[in-house]
Amino acid sequence: MAIVIIRQDGKIEAWKKALKERNPSIAIYSYLEDHPKQDITMALIWKHPQGSLSVYPNLKCIASSGAGVDYIFEDASAPTDIPITRVVDPYLASDMSEHVLAVILAELKNFNSYKLQQVASDWKPKIYRRIKDVTVGIMGLGELGALTATDLMKFGFTVQGWSRSQKELKNVKTFAGSDTLDAFLQATEILVCLLPLTPDTEGILSKELFERLPKGAYVINVARGGHLVDRDLLEALDADHLSGACLDVYHQEPLPKDHPFWQHPKIFMTPHYASVSDTDSVVPQILENYDRLRMGKELLNTVNRKKGY
Ligand code: NDP
Ligand code: OXD
Repeated sequence: MAIVIIRQDGKIEAWKKALKERNPSIAIYSYLEDHPKQDITMALIWKHPQGSLSVYPNLKCIASSGAGVDYIFEDASAPTDIPITRVVDPYLASDMSEHVLAVILAELKNFNSYKLQQVASDWKPKIYRRIKDVTVGIMGLGELGALTATDLMKFGFTVQGWSRSQKELKNVKTFAGSDTLDAFLQATEILVCLLPLTPDTEGILSKELFERLPKGAYVINVARGGHLVDRDLLEALDADHLSGACLDVYHQEPLPKDHPFWQHPKIFMTPHYASVSDTDSVVPQILENYDRLRMGKELLNTVNRKKGY
């Protein structure tokens, strides 16, 4: 039994070190080094090169080192008959919640506009908004969305959330299923997308959805670029239907230099770094699953292949 780490962001050695520190006896390889393919039982991956998972005849688990797994389903050559696990981690959830809070406060207090005005040496006070007057709507009430909703509610926002199945969250108004989307959107002044990317949610942040938000609504996409129809966002911003947007994720990452988002005055961008798996915090659950795999036990944090998340 052995683990192979497959990722292209320069972090293989950091993950290897964190795993080795916790369990020096496990055989762990980078997919870039010479390694015994038949020994590999777990692939710990993040945005792997397509095709790289199909060379392991004894692979028993694909472990995503992030929360999202859409990139695995995109690889048609990835094995379809073994479990996929994903990261469920308190820091991943609290980092996301903090990021969303920072974005919302920056918008309410006009920091984005003031930054542009500063560049132009322009002294122009703008009316700011108070937390108590603002309704935030969170799409997706899973590990990240539920904590974000609860934290925002504790800060004094009016919070509502939308998910597939009905959720109970204290002091958060919850909506479930596509029939309730209209009602959810009607009262949402700041929309936060924390959905997984699946065939059902792809392109959900579209003209049709934006039109159902109140005029002046602000959109935050911290889920996946595939949720957003880029052209529809630009149109809704330019028509002044939406007041602005904050994006962390994009169809193509890094976003190509000539993409119109870069220069748009109403778009605030971050480079897919709202919340990142913390190796020290996440490694124990990877090793726990590795042990469970060895003992033939049920794995933690498995993905429902039918649902796609
Ligand atoms: P979860 O799987 O825990 O939660 C997903 C939520 O979305 C659930 O509430 C689910 O409903 C809901 N949902 C799924 N499909 C639908 C649908 N068709 N209609 C309505 N609701 C739906 O995911 P996480 O909270 O762990 O993560 C969410 C996403 O955040 C990840 O998939 C990833 O893309 C993104 N992410 C982004 C990061 C960043 O840095 N930008 C970092 C980490 C994650 P139900 O509960 O009823 O199943
Ligand atoms: C994740 C991410 O899914 O970083 O964990 O986007």
